[in-house]
Amino acid sequence: MTEESEGIMKGYVCKVCKFISINGSAPDKCPVCGAPRTAFEEKEDAIKTLKDENNLTELEKKHIPVITVVKKCGLIPEGCLDVHVKMGEIQHPMQAEHYIAHIDFYIDKEFISRVMLTPEKLNPAAALHLKASSGRLAAIELCNLHGAWIKETEL
Ligand SMILES: [Fe+2]
Repeated sequence: MTEESEGIMKGYVCKVCKFISINGSAPDKCPVCGAPRTAFEEKEDAIKTLKDENNLTELEKKHIPVITVVKKCGLIPEGCLDVHVKMGEIQHPMQAEHYIAHIDFYIDKEFISRVMLTPEKLNPAAALHLKASSGRLAAIELCNLHGAWIKETEL
């Protein structure tokens, strides 16, 4: 399958844990694994993004995160905003040879959380309970075969 039609986004990629900084610079220290700035590599094609939202490719349908924001939390009744993310519009496989390895979450381009996923044990999805009630949420998922994909939404 061709990848020519996909959108591409720049990022600074940690060589150790594959965290991607999207705020325009490499951090002093990787917020996920603690690696130093020297472990980061600037990549013009670090992340794949949706090119035409009215005409998704098969690969985009399996990889672009689908984000659902739930305003009322069943667990923490006050001051909690639930974010549910799944991959993707067509469910991505979670097999030993092809799976989603992790999902990294950001608010206003700053890292807030990583959810690690284990193939065969978990579905390609995660949820967070946010204190924040506004801002721009981004989710970047890493597929072991097809790379990193991003979706952003306003809270
Ligand atoms: Fe994949």
